[in-house]
Amino acid sequence: MFTRKGAIAAASLWLALTGGASLAETPNLGKPIDEAAIEAWDISILPDGTGLPKGSGTPAQGAPIYAEKCAACHGDNGKGGEAAALVSDRQLAGISAAQKTIKNFWPYSTTIFDFVRRAMPFQMPRSLTDDEVYALTAYILAENKLIGATDTMDAQTLPKVKMPNRDNFIIRFPDRI
Ligand code: HEC
Repeated sequence: MFTRKGAIAAASLWLALTGGASLAETPNLGKPIDEAAIEAWDISILPDGTGLPKGSGTPAQGAPIYAEKCAACHGDNGKGGEAAALVSDRQLAGISAAQKTIKNFWPYSTTIFDFVRRAMPFQMPRSLTDDEVYALTAYILAENKLIGATDTMDAQTLPKVKMPNRDNFIIRFPDRI
């Protein structure tokens, strides 16, 4: 039978149990993560190039890597295939994804490095070395005529490549930059 005394006892027991649980620091799952492990995942490149690793690459070095690891989906010389064209002179005539290309839309050259390193090749992301990613980035930029055919891309030169659409974005919260 439910009595007042019984209810108080039940409430005390409930408090004791939940109070005890909330005092425990963690559910004791997982293990502390160390700096080296964080570093392996901390691969974001900021628009100004912050975070770019050591290494370098040229369009000529990128061309054979592209042919081997990218052309099957993105077509010969980046002209497009099963996956989007990476090299194109299409003008931006609308805001649908199909309209946007690296050359007519992407505001920062550094995003090419970040995206290729973290996401490509599609079936084997994060399998490229930093030098390979610099070379592929150089290749894509050169094929789009955004850098010269012999320019080297590295942590200093890549952020200086100005993308054609960079100034056409409206910064929603400029005071937060
Ligand atoms: C198996 C097919 C496949 C291969 C191989 C592949 N990609 Fe992709 N790629 C894709 C797909 C699919 C997308 C769209 C992904 C998305 O939107 O999330 C994409 C998107 C991209 C984009 C963004 C394009 C845009 O305009 O949004 C870049 C840049 C890119 N890939 C570069 C590369 C490079 C460089 C390689 C070679 C190292 C490569 N890809 C290999 C399938 C592939």
